[in-house]
Amino acid sequence: MEQIQTILAQARLHRSVEGESRRLFYGRGHCFAGLEDVVIDHHPGLIVIFLYRERQHDWLEALARQLSIEDPAVHCVAVQHRYDNGCPMEALIGELPSTPLAVEAGLRYQLNLQRGQNIGFFPDMAFGRALVREHAAGKKILNLFAYTCSFSVAALAADARQVVNVDMSRSALDQGRLNHTLNNSDLRAASFVAVELFRSFGRMAKLGPFDLIVCDPPAQQGKSFTAKTHWPKLLRRLPHWLSPGGELMLCVNGPHLPEQFMEEQIALHLPEAQQLQCHVAGSSFPEKDPRCVTRLYHLKFPS
Ligand SMILES: C[S@@+](CC[C@H](N)C(=O)[O-])C[C@H]1O[C@@H](n2cnc3c(N)ncnc32)[C@H](O)[C@@H]1O
Repeated sequence: MEQIQTILAQARLHRSVEGESRRLFYGRGHCFAGLEDVVIDHHPGLIVIFLYRERQHDWLEALARQLSIEDPAVHCVAVQHRYDNGCPMEALIGELPSTPLAVEAGLRYQLNLQRGQNIGFFPDMAFGRALVREHAAGKKILNLFAYTCSFSVAALAADARQVVNVDMSRSALDQGRLNHTLNNSDLRAASFVAVELFRSFGRMAKLGPFDLIVCDPPAQQGKSFTAKTHWPKLLRRLPHWLSPGGELMLCVNGPHLPEQFMEEQIALHLPEAQQLQCHVAGSSFPEKDPRCVTRLYHLKFPS
């Protein structure tokens, strides 16, 4: 019961006042003893508990009941069993909605509760999308590791001139196209390129030059992305795809990197770039180990 009270106290702290998507609880950062396996997100009408180890069903049901009592606008509390094969999703209260949506800064993103481990939207990149919106107007943008294209939707809502979305997952990009439609984005200004990035450097050069490149790779994904190997390859190449005065937004997360890794790589491979700022995810994503905090490096090249 004490654990549930800890979760509820955090959820109250991070509850959305405008009904938008929010992370209510983040235990993976090791700031709450015994709750390292629990992450909870709120979307309009829906709460999703992500569970990274098996727990007793009674405990889960009690948690779901309490979460729904605290927020009467929630019609469904679901749990995704991340430790289990295929990451099955189960409704604990109500029924899984047929067209669930994430909503952030007035923009809508489709969620997919039925398939795979990621449900289509990463709340921890809210600060990145806000930054892109601040800087997108009039720009031609390359969105690398685009997934469901949330950066593209945010950029076009802020009058970006053009966005090229690149990801090796065609189904993620299809969902990305749908996210553009959901937000009445101008689809003539968005393109979707389904390729393995590290085999497509020539194609990126041909599609450029770009005024802004957003680069938000996974922390680690099989042979497709390993931070220590792939970041240096990428950093060496990115400046060649930029126009003079171009900008980079490099998103880094996960516990796989030694301290100062990105700072050292940036100094080594992008010596001419000026670092405008290093932004970090907000208080909804507490991390005990500062190396694990999700960061975004915003860099600008000389004109
Ligand atoms: C963390 S997600 C990106 C999140 C996304 N930027 C967003 O705004 O929601 C990582 C994505 O990188 C893609 N990916 C991983 N390695 C890749 C590679 N070598 N080439 C192209 N895409 C890759 C995956 O398919 C996945 O969609």
